[in-house]
Amino acid sequence: MPIRPLVILPDAQLRLTSSPVGPVTDDVKALASDMLETMYDAPGIGLAAIQIGVPKRLVVVDLGKTPEEREPLVLLDPAVTWTSEETRVHEEGCLSIPEYYEEVTRPDRIRIRYRTLEGEEVEREADGLLATCIQHEIDHLDGILFIDHLSRLKRQRVQKKFEKAARREES
Ligand code: NI
Repeated sequence: MPIRPLVILPDAQLRLTSSPVGPVTDDVKALASDMLETMYDAPGIGLAAIQIGVPKRLVVVDLGKTPEEREPLVLLDPAVTWTSEETRVHEEGCLSIPEYYEEVTRPDRIRIRYRTLEGEEVEREADGLLATCIQHEIDHLDGILFIDHLSRLKRQRVQKKFEKAARREES
């Protein structure tokens, strides 16, 4: 169950639209397990498959702060089917944009539909931090990053900073 390397901004893979997961094969289960391990190691509270370079509509989330509190949620082909009018503001970060945090406003409550690793179809509501986290991860499946929700000035500033860092690493 290896920890996988993370895809970091400005890697173009982060802008891909991911494809449906398809049948729940052993490969899909192994991918979900690697994603959880990679997320816990980082550490983070959510990860989309494209963040380890796999363009599949697979997301893992766990808000547990300690290993004892872990409650992994694995979402296959998740979709938001309803959002509340009320919003909440959260200072978001992203494992693909390390050490950058900024406040983002999103709907406070959402309804989502997804499949589980057991092949069940689930529809459920989420609110608060869980809703924020799930929306952030589902965005990744369509090549959207949390910096896209910021002003153009802020987005360009962080984009340039990471482009510069990537160039430094190359040379
Ligand atoms: Ni992210």
